[in-house]
Amino acid sequence: MKSTAIAHPNIAFIKYWGNLNQDLRLPVNGSFSMNLEGLATKTQVIFREDLSEDILILNEKEEDGAGLARVSQILDEVRAASGIQLKAEVVSENNFPTGAGIASSAAAFAALALAASKAAGLDLDEAALSVLARHGSGSASRSVPGGFVEWQMGEDDKSSYAFSIAPAEHWDLADCVAVVSTGHKETGSTQGHPLADTSPLQAARVADAARRIEICRNAILERDFEAFASIAEADSDLMHAVMMTSNPALFYWKPATLRVMDSVRNWRAAGIPVFYTIDAGPNVHVITYREKMAEVSKMLKELEGVSDVLTATVGGAAHWVE
Ligand code: DP6
Repeated sequence: MKSTAIAHPNIAFIKYWGNLNQDLRLPVNGSFSMNLEGLATKTQVIFREDLSEDILILNEKEEDGAGLARVSQILDEVRAASGIQLKAEVVSENNFPTGAGIASSAAAFAALALAASKAAGLDLDEAALSVLARHGSGSASRSVPGGFVEWQMGEDDKSSYAFSIAPAEHWDLADCVAVVSTGHKETGSTQGHPLADTSPLQAARVADAARRIEICRNAILERDFEAFASIAEADSDLMHAVMMTSNPALFYWKPATLRVMDSVRNWRAAGIPVFYTIDAGPNVHVITYREKMAEVSKMLKELEGVSDVLTATVGGAAHWVE
């Protein structure tokens, strides 16, 4: 009746933006990511006889409203599959700061899917866990498997899941997250996905997705940094072009975001292995080799408007700890 799981957030190289089915989070295109080692969410789920409602405690604070409802939806699925009627207490903690440009929902729902299913006595395989996590947050499907991960869009609920294409040890990469703003909350991904179709550019982005996915997969498998860098930057730029031309428009970049992007391009032209990718916020994920992580972090910290740099290497799969 009790289980604890740990999952890592992930950074996408081919982005998920827009759903065919918003409720089920069936995406309009497949995506690619790597898990981030060193950053983690730990979640404990206990099904309890004495509860009349589910309880969610996030970073030592009790949550209600939309956050709790999203968690209860996953617990309901687990209850339906296991026949358990009991309400649950969910206690979750992140070891990384919120507002640092690292999506916590991916790690949170991957850890929740694992802990809740195990606590209920279900023995789900990796694909089924990825589907369950996806129902909470699309990108969470990619935090279930380890290392370098592909989320195939699939044809229906069951076939839309993520799997590892290479383990974490396959390629010694690192993510240096240049924090340029921890300020006011941006429009979150969940609110953003339904706007994707209001941009005339989304159809073109989606139509070309299979080509980008193929290039990205090969670049990762062949450890071709140059090819990887150019497809990941192009994909991030495409997603932001869609965001900026949505109705209402979503402008996530700040002046310092562009300053980092520009510097990263210049550094790469000068022979330093770096590229950028940006999610639904102003902070910039700068990917490099693990051996360059300290040097790149230092360079990023010296840029005007960069308040902090968080670093991570390639992480493994979500796993149970109890
Ligand atoms: C820009 O998975 O956070 O980070 O399914 O509504 O929880 P929900 O959205 P989410 O969307 C991620 C958007 C992105 C790109 C990506 O991670 O692929």
